Amino acid sequence: MSNTSDRIATRNKDDKWLLALLKEAQNKAGYISEKAMAEIAESLDMTLSDVYGVATFYSFLSTKPQGRNVIKICQSLPCYLRNYQTIAESIKNEIGIKPGETTPDGRFSFTLTNCIGACDQAPAMLINDDVHGNLTPGKISEILKAYK
Ligand code: FES
Repeated sequence: MSNTSDRIATRNKDDKWLLALLKEAQNKAGYISEKAMAEIAESLDMTLSDVYGVATFYSFLSTKPQGRNVIKICQSLPCYLRNYQTIAESIKNEIGIKPGETTPDGRFSFTLTNCIGACDQAPAMLINDDVHGNLTPGKISEILKAYK
C-alpha cells in the first residue's frame, strides 16, 4: 500500500502527462474534442470528468473549435484597474461576438484570460502569440485589420 507522499507524487506525474497530452491534442486539432479527452482519459486510466475538469480549467486550452485568430483579453487586476472592460467592449462591437464565441466566418475567437505577463502595458491582450499592450478603444480596429 502506498503512503500519502507516494500518492501525491503519482498524482503530480499523471497531471504532468495529462497537461502534455491535452496540449498535444489542441496543437493537432486547434481544440480538444470529446473524443480526444476520452482517449486521453483511457490512456492515463483517469475518468473523463477528471480530464474534462483540467481541459476546461486552463484558459490556454479550449474544448471548442477556435477561429483562425484567437483574441485573449487579460482581465487580471492590473488590466482590470486600467479598464480592460472598455477594450473588451470595443472588440465585441468590432467583430460582433462576446467572450467565449467565434465569428461565423471563423476569423476570430474571443476570450477573457488571466495575466499574460504584460502588466507593464496594461490593458493588454494576446492575438494568437502576439502581445498588444497599452490598448485604447481607438487602437482596436487597426490592430484587428492585420489578422485575416
Ligand atoms: S494583469 Fe494583464 S497582463 Fe498582467
